[in-house]
Amino acid sequence: MGGNNTILKIMNLSKHFGALKAVDEVSFEVKKGEIIGLIGPNGAGKTTLTNLATGAYSKTDGKVIFKDLDISNLKPYQIARMGLTRTFQVVKPLIGMTVEENVLVGSLYGRDKRNTDMKNASKRAKEIIKLVGLESKKDFLVSDITLPDLKKMEFARVLAMEPEVVFLDEVMAGLNPTEVTEASILVKKIRLEKDLTIVYIEHIMKAVMGISDRIVVLHHGRKIVEGTPQEVVNDPAVVEAYLGKRYAKGIKEANNEG
Ligand SMILES: Nc1ncnc2c1ncn2[C@@H]1O[C@H](COP(=O)(O)OP(=O)(O)O)[C@@H](O)[C@H]1O
Ligand SMILES: [Mg+2]
Repeated sequence: MGGNNTILKIMNLSKHFGALKAVDEVSFEVKKGEIIGLIGPNGAGKTTLTNLATGAYSKTDGKVIFKDLDISNLKPYQIARMGLTRTFQVVKPLIGMTVEENVLVGSLYGRDKRNTDMKNASKRAKEIIKLVGLESKKDFLVSDITLPDLKKMEFARVLAMEPEVVFLDEVMAGLNPTEVTEASILVKKIRLEKDLTIVYIEHIMKAVMGISDRIVVLHHGRKIVEGTPQEVVNDPAVVEAYLGKRYAKGIKEANNEG
């Protein structure tokens, strides 16, 4: 691996849509077992970067190295089978199917060849449904469950694929503060239990502070800051990206005085 346990390397990655540089020469590394927060205001390029890393979009330039292999020209299913997958910002459940059937699809699509055996896939789906706390809802149609449960199901569907690295794209969006806290606890628990590496995407800064080991901040497609939650939260460039110049100036002055 490229030095101490690096599992994923984003290298000078760019994606242009015509004149728009949605992702602009972004580089960062993710170590095995880490939770990396990927933050930035709406339109910063977070989902586009996720699409690039998981093969949904072809890059304009750069590379994505996963477990020492260049995956930047592979298809999403090939990348998923290698152990890198993602959730969708807009949850895409299979309507007309139950919670368990949805998770079963993930299990069948996943990495482990034994899972193409229906009995094993079904067993795995049941285990994961229990792990995310959806056991009592497993026979509900997805149209009959709440948003927090839908998010849990989306997470379960991805976990059933037995990933090593997961991009969670705004999984907290639409949840109330209590639900956000519960979801954070669940993500941390599952990270440990499944030995997962997580890229945790959010536009609300506060939501990633307590959960991330390190944070990468995107703004207008570029990486503007990378550091610990404490380093990032007080960085004038980050404040400026979120709140505008006026606020950032206040922080700079306060830092100089202090
Ligand atoms: N398929 C696309 N075609 C054209 N522009 C796109 C496409 N996807 C995203 N964009 C643009 O790229 C920029 C970054 O979008 P996105 O990655 O969705 O940001 P974020 O997830 O950080 O909110 C935005 O300006 C968005 O409008
Ligand atoms: Mg997005």
